[in-house]
Amino acid sequence: MATSSSFRECLESGILPDWSDILGPSSTSCRVASLSAGVRKIAAEKLSREGYVQLPSGIAPATRERLARSVARLLKLGWPPTFVMVLDEVWELYEGFGTWLPRLCLTGDFLAWYVEPGTKRRFGCRAGFSPHRDRVDPAAFFPDGGPKYATVWLAVTPATPENSCLYAIPAHADPGYRKGDGDQDPLRRALPTKESFQVVRCLAARPGDCNVFSHRLLHWGSEGSELPTMRRLGVGKGGTLEFLRRNKRAPPRIALSFVFSDPSFERPYVAGKPDVETRVALAAAQMLCYQDRWQLSKAEAVFFWRLASRRPEVFDPGYFRDKVRAEFVASALRSEGVAGSSNDDDDDDDDDAEEAALEAMLDGEAESSSSSYYWDDYDDAIRHHRLLL
Ligand SMILES: [Fe+2]
Repeated sequence: MATSSSFRECLESGILPDWSDILGPSSTSCRVASLSAGVRKIAAEKLSREGYVQLPSGIAPATRERLARSVARLLKLGWPPTFVMVLDEVWELYEGFGTWLPRLCLTGDFLAWYVEPGTKRRFGCRAGFSPHRDRVDPAAFFPDGGPKYATVWLAVTPATPENSCLYAIPAHADPGYRKGDGDQDPLRRALPTKESFQVVRCLAARPGDCNVFSHRLLHWGSEGSELPTMRRLGVGKGGTLEFLRRNKRAPPRIALSFVFSDPSFERPYVAGKPDVETRVALAAAQMLCYQDRWQLSKAEAVFFWRLASRRPEVFDPGYFRDKVRAEFVASALRSEGVAGSSNDDDDDDDDDAEEAALEAMLDGEAESSSSSYYWDDYDDAIRHHRLLL
């Protein structure tokens, strides 16, 4: 039986697509460049002192093009770009980037982004994340200053101020980077005067370039321009500046992020190199972990929860319990409607979501009586549910 590839149809039927129909067959291997001893030393120093370092990945253009095509195709069919992690190439890259950070393990905290100014596509973004640190614990550094948690952010297409790129405040100019922020606003502390804004770094990247940064780097993704980019001008006949390409706008910014951590700081979400079923479960779990960003509809939250909870045994219990399940419950019990989601919720979706959330809470309660942060908020809901049983 032929299966549908569109997210909306899969959401309604619960039947998953044949991923090779969407993504095509896996291609040849994709190698990440290794670092010479000299580059490794300076990269480590920059990461330690400034909180980030930019490195070209050395991956082949054919690999980048395949990743870009796959993300664009997923988005066109309504799927979140993060499902590109179904591809073998993503896990080969993950292992390759691991050679740059030999003290850390890959966690499986992978995300893919498609940013296009003004886009209306579900799971596309008009801008990157607002300013934040990836983790709040300032103590997670090795004695030599190297971070115990780092992200490799790969630009699949160009990432420039025209189409969105990362900006950051380097560690040495950020008072809260190592000491913590307490109850203070880290941005206001780092940028107290007009002159202090001069420390902001634009981390523009060519296709294939990486930004490698620590969990404490204050960073954000910008919003690009909806107008044609003048970077596509060239000198035409008669020495006149002209648009030399048919497409005058900057391309969408497509980027992948791969997280690494010392297990004493954050344990891997999945063990080893996951098989395709585990990748699908992990992609769904990641959508729940970032549910607030996506403002998932109840039907979407339940769909991702059912995908993630098909294989709970493959996940680190802490990740599954405290992040995935808790975020699902928060998403499923959210009261307000969701604008722009791919499935308008109706009363049946509300009932489904509430039932699945209560079931998830009861399962969680049975596994552990320790404090999960949603218990207090939803004790009443559980009690109410028990009365109905
Ligand atoms: Fe981030």
